[in-house]
Amino acid sequence: MENTVKYLKEKTNNFNPETGIILGSGLGELADEYCNYAVPYSDIPNFIKSTVKGHKGRLVFAEINNKKTVLMQGRNHFYEGHSMQEITFPVKVMKALGVKTLILTNAAGAVNESYKPADLMIITDHINNMGSNPLIGPNDDTLGERFPDMTEVYKKDLIELAEKSANKLGMDIQKGVYWANSGPSYETPAEINMIRKLGGDAVGMSTVPEAIVANYCQIDVLGISCISNAASSATGEKLSHEEVIDTTNKAKAKFKSLILEVISNL
Ligand code: HPA
Repeated sequence: MENTVKYLKEKTNNFNPETGIILGSGLGELADEYCNYAVPYSDIPNFIKSTVKGHKGRLVFAEINNKKTVLMQGRNHFYEGHSMQEITFPVKVMKALGVKTLILTNAAGAVNESYKPADLMIITDHINNMGSNPLIGPNDDTLGERFPDMTEVYKKDLIELAEKSANKLGMDIQKGVYWANSGPSYETPAEINMIRKLGGDAVGMSTVPEAIVANYCQIDVLGISCISNAASSATGEKLSHEEVIDTTNKAKAKFKSLILEVISNL
């Protein structure tokens, strides 16, 4: 951690971000437009490279509407074979750099039948069905508690701010529960039915590990899902990663304006 933070401070002339954003599949463009310093993951001590198509793999430091922000353009996933601890290391680095608020974004399948592709959903809560937890292992008491409370991972005032921002922009917005599976296979129709019955509104393969670690180390979390497809049982049609990227491309302008509005009012 010390090496990583020292390296990043040197590379960015001691940029002290207060806000962090992790950009999901197809949503990385924000970090192309706003970029004061860009550091490839492959250059950062102890970071892992991003291997998924649609994910670039660099840490971008940018002043966005006067807010010092660090953006992960591409994230690492559990399904790539990395450990939960490895994929959440960047959140701890953000904490060490001074981040107070973390905006987690992702592409997700709609489980709630009223959702349409390209809708945006504010995450109100999550269900961890990934089969693991990033806090397993010895606890670092300087970062957080052994048994962290999870009552309000997605902060109510940030949910309200995101909702108000969407309204101000005249944008329809959904609110719902994000269900995380490990992936990489998508869900069967029976699995989608189960998720719906158990209270999930959208399903994806990320975000929950980072949210758990951010909450653990007292970073406020806002989560936004871009609904990239109808869940499999709703349509009976096959699903591909290309479809996910295509739809997020259609939603990215809307997504970007929402994020910018939220950041301006943090
Ligand atoms: N399921 C799981 N993860 C996803 C999906 C989905 O339908 N769409 C985008 N990420």
